[in-house]
Amino acid sequence: MGIKLTARLQKIADQVTIGHRVADIGTDHGYIPIYLLKNNISPFVIAGDINERPLRCAENNIEANNLVNSIETRLGSGLSILQPKEVDTVIVAGMGGLLISELIDNSKEIAQNLSTLIFQPMQAQAELREYLVNNDFIIERDILVKEDRHIYEIIVAKPGKQEILDPICYEVGFHINSNPRPLAIEFIAKKIKTAKEIIQNISENASESSFEKLKEMKNKLKRFEEVLLCLQR
Ligand SMILES: C[S@@+](CC[C@H](N)C(=O)[O-])C[C@H]1O[C@@H](n2cnc3c(N)ncnc32)[C@H](O)[C@@H]1O
Repeated sequence: MGIKLTARLQKIADQVTIGHRVADIGTDHGYIPIYLLKNNISPFVIAGDINERPLRCAENNIEANNLVNSIETRLGSGLSILQPKEVDTVIVAGMGGLLISELIDNSKEIAQNLSTLIFQPMQAQAELREYLVNNDFIIERDILVKEDRHIYEIIVAKPGKQEILDPICYEVGFHINSNPRPLAIEFIAKKIKTAKEIIQNISENASESSFEKLKEMKNKLKRFEEVLLCLQR
């Protein structure tokens, strides 16, 4: 049985270096591990999940693809299921950015010994980028992928020190220019729309405490508009 990934999962799998041993944390269905093995990208994959039900689902799919000898399933939280240097790449996809940073923070030694970390946060992407940079990771790639009407962000990092020239990069990514121009423009236009809605909301329910938030959002909006202008040049 072959495996056809969705656009989001395919883009995540595309970030894996050929030959790398991989751990897919929060694997759920196990599609990425199966794809990496079936396509001879990885020699060995660990598929981890904190919940038994998704792990059983992955195990069933792994069995149906005759890959029980090359994909090891492990029950447990985050990177705690790994030994240092057991894999080269870790993937954490489909979780919130705050949870992802918590999982890295709980297993710093393991994370700092990886070659590549591939994240696909569903929310709090800026907070995850900031966490990574403040905790000795370099953001190597920021990839956008559209599936249905949603634009997903993929962050590829490695251990190292990164200098921050402009904090807006936490919001829009450090490498937005490397994405197809129309997609990058659509992504920023969505950020502008959301920022305007938030500003409208705060203005309607103005209170003393919301003044700082309003100022911050207006500043962010101005920066997003500058990024959009650069992309449209
Ligand atoms: C929304 S699914 C994402 C599945 C897959 N990675 C994807 O992107 O399609 C999130 C999965 O993460 C698992 N999960 C949640 N918290 C976790 C943790 N602390 N450690 C490992 N897995 C976790 C859940 O059980 C669930 O299977």
